[in-house]
Amino acid sequence: MGRPHAPSDPCLVSLSAGSFFVTIQTMQHKNLVSITSLDRKDIESYVDLANQLSKKSLHKIDQKQFVVAILFFEESTRTQIGFTIATYRLGGHVVIMNETKHHPRMGTAESLEDTIRSIQSYCDVICLRHPNKDIYARLKPILKKPIINCGNGDDEHPTQTLIDLLTINNEFNRLDNLYVAVIGNPRYSRSAHSLLHALSRFANIQVRTISPTELYLPEEYKKIYLSSGNILEEDTEMNIRDMDVLYVTGFPANLPVKMFSQETQSKYWITPELIPELKKDAIILCPLPRIDEINIRVDDEPQAKYFKQSKNGLYMRMAILNKLLS
Ligand code: CP
Repeated sequence: MGRPHAPSDPCLVSLSAGSFFVTIQTMQHKNLVSITSLDRKDIESYVDLANQLSKKSLHKIDQKQFVVAILFFEESTRTQIGFTIATYRLGGHVVIMNETKHHPRMGTAESLEDTIRSIQSYCDVICLRHPNKDIYARLKPILKKPIINCGNGDDEHPTQTLIDLLTINNEFNRLDNLYVAVIGNPRYSRSAHSLLHALSRFANIQVRTISPTELYLPEEYKKIYLSSGNILEEDTEMNIRDMDVLYVTGFPANLPVKMFSQETQSKYWITPELIPELKKDAIILCPLPRIDEINIRVDDEPQAKYFKQSKNGLYMRMAILNKLLS
């Protein structure tokens, strides 16, 4: 069933025409580390809340002076800036740290555990991006404040997935009965991994990964997705005619497998010439950044939704902060 017009959420109380005050909700998930911690109802509730938050220009969390610590040890544009602005829009404050004493350039070694032990005593929530996929297992024993996984190595990117699902929901009016192509790099794309985990929560989903065989999805992610009974196909050719969603992930230069020739990579690029093959209501999504996996001439095609998806990121990040801070 579709969810474009979010039912009014009991957590939201409109106090004036121009502002929303978000009141305390029951906290079910203190951390957002893996998308697998959310069931279907949780995901729908995030989508509903993000849609409600998108309808007003000013929002405040009913918690005075909340502070978000943004600790990013990998590059980011959308996630770091997105969480920063989402915090401002909710009336909070942000501190940002991109290097720690753990960093070789800082000379003295301090463990990330010690850095987080200190910072969590100053702030209300931590947004962490880290290159180590096992970082949350390491941090679990010491965490005392909510933490949001903004990308852990090549494992997961749960906040990106909630943004992806918000976009899919708002375009199709449903999150069931979808045919989704994951193109390019299913093996190392953390956004693709979290998306598949999340799609396993919905019914009658068919996913087709389209990539060179070396970049097929790892077994651990396949296993979780397939346990839902949904269908997975793997293809090396750009068979995209029946797809509802094209989820495009590129070939990062630092892939730890043999470099792919430009000719091989270009086989998986989205070009204007491919558009006539698509269904009229198909959508093209990309977590961004886009390097050359989607030709800029595709941007004006009606199926191109990746900048709308990026815009949705603000509302979903506000929804995530709201839920974890409440
Ligand atoms: N999609 C995403 O994570 O983008 P950034 O790397 O720019 O944050």
